[in-house]
Amino acid sequence: MNNVYLIGFMGSGKSAVCSRLHELTGMEIVEMDAILADNEKMTINDIFANKGEAYFRDKETELLTQLSFENRKAVSCGGGAILRPENVSLMKDSGKIILLSAAPETIYERLKDSDDRPLLHGNMNVPFISEMIEKRRPRYEAAADCTVTVDGKTVDEICKEILALL
Ligand code: S3P
Repeated sequence: MNNVYLIGFMGSGKSAVCSRLHELTGMEIVEMDAILADNEKMTINDIFANKGEAYFRDKETELLTQLSFENRKAVSCGGGAILRPENVSLMKDSGKIILLSAAPETIYERLKDSDDRPLLHGNMNVPFISEMIEKRRPRYEAAADCTVTVDGKTVDEICKEILALL
């Protein structure tokens, strides 16, 4: 099996699903944000604040380039990794892309008490999240080989659907 790339908005459950996919299939987990933070020795918030979003996006592309040479990785992508067409090409050429789709209310409930998403600072509310999802929707949908709706489902149910699609 090639890599599996989980894409979707912040809080759509990519990390939890990745971790369960690892338990179920033995595929190695790759947490893009964790690797980027580790490489930079900074939190994601600090990378955005000190080096800027464009720098972070460059690092995402570099990491996806490395991952495109690998196999059998379950990759939890940052929510904005699909914003660059070259990133989507790298993913498409090296695996399957699964979109986890969640309602803005679900995202809000999951993220409302967290502070580690710089793009939501000062904007942690359903209308903002909804608008951002709608802006990105065409990119998510164009990138995805398959989509799994996650609202109201357990991680196991989501993984079962993903495994049936692979
Ligand atoms: C981002 C999503 C975040 C992280 C960064 C930017 C985005 O990852 O990469 O804060 O642009 O949607 P998660 O989707 O894992 O929260």
